Amino acid sequence: MANYTVLLVSLEDGILTITINRPDKLNALNKTVIDELATAIKEVYENTEIKSAVITGSGPKAFVAGADISEFISLNGKAGEALAQKGQDTVFSKIENSPKPIIAAVNGFALGGGCELAMACHFRLCSEQAKFGQPEVNLGLIPGYGGTQRLTQLIGKGKAMELMMTGNMIDANEAKQLGLVNYVTTGENLLPKTKELLQTINTKAPIAVEHIIRLTNMAARGDKDGLQKEINAFGELFDTQDAKEGAAAFLEKRKAIFKGA
Ligand code: COA
Repeated sequence: MANYTVLLVSLEDGILTITINRPDKLNALNKTVIDELATAIKEVYENTEIKSAVITGSGPKAFVAGADISEFISLNGKAGEALAQKGQDTVFSKIENSPKPIIAAVNGFALGGGCELAMACHFRLCSEQAKFGQPEVNLGLIPGYGGTQRLTQLIGKGKAMELMMTGNMIDANEAKQLGLVNYVTTGENLLPKTKELLQTINTKAPIAVEHIIRLTNMAARGDKDGLQKEINAFGELFDTQDAKEGAAAFLEKRKAIFKGA
């Protein structure tokens, strides 16, 4: 495991818990957080002991209150574009395209880059005190870590436009109604509930889960090849040991033991 300064990272039962740990700055995404998140996500891809991951924020108030605004003062157009490009390439798109599930446990404010970080994850749970928003417009900016695309995919064009143009926040219940989060729990139950879902997923066939992530992402992006790619992947899976184990276990009335092969 790499060394981290602004993340707390721990591995238990195949689940990597990544906690952004700058509570005095509401876990704002500065350069170091982005760099360390990139390293942690790389570990998710490469470390065979990791089956899935959860991203959360430390402290009682915030998941992530956005990109670190103090780093914006010195940026010009070129540097702003480079910031968004690097963040999307090394963190946000990497999370979305991770072959292993990465889930957001939103424990408070998820604003700007924080909402975008949660949306890059495969799905989201949140606590009752969570608040979501894309307030970049208040700074004369727009989302740069995928917000215009992923918010629209998740909650539809009209509501996404409203949230981005007003900069207004929504609470946990509205986020649930809109489909932005799957579950709202107490703060105390947030990580246990997230880990319970991941434990369930971790017992399933990893190659099938990987295909589900890839194909569902294609659908969300409106990729026209989705149906054909589904046919191809469906066929490929019949050549895996895990598919043979799955059918055999069902017929033998026992629990399947999947090996990711
Ligand atoms: N970047 C840098 N620092 C941030 C930050 C951000 N996005 N969000 C919060 N902080 C810092 C504050 O500057 C403050 O630091 P200080 O104690 O050194 O002054 C600390 O975190 C606590 O925040 P504070 O604003 O005092 O808390 P609050 O409870 O009054 O308000 C928010 C909470 C989330 C409403 C408010 O912090 C906020 O609007 N943050 C910015 C959200 C935003 O615009 N994000 C998008 C960025 S593109």
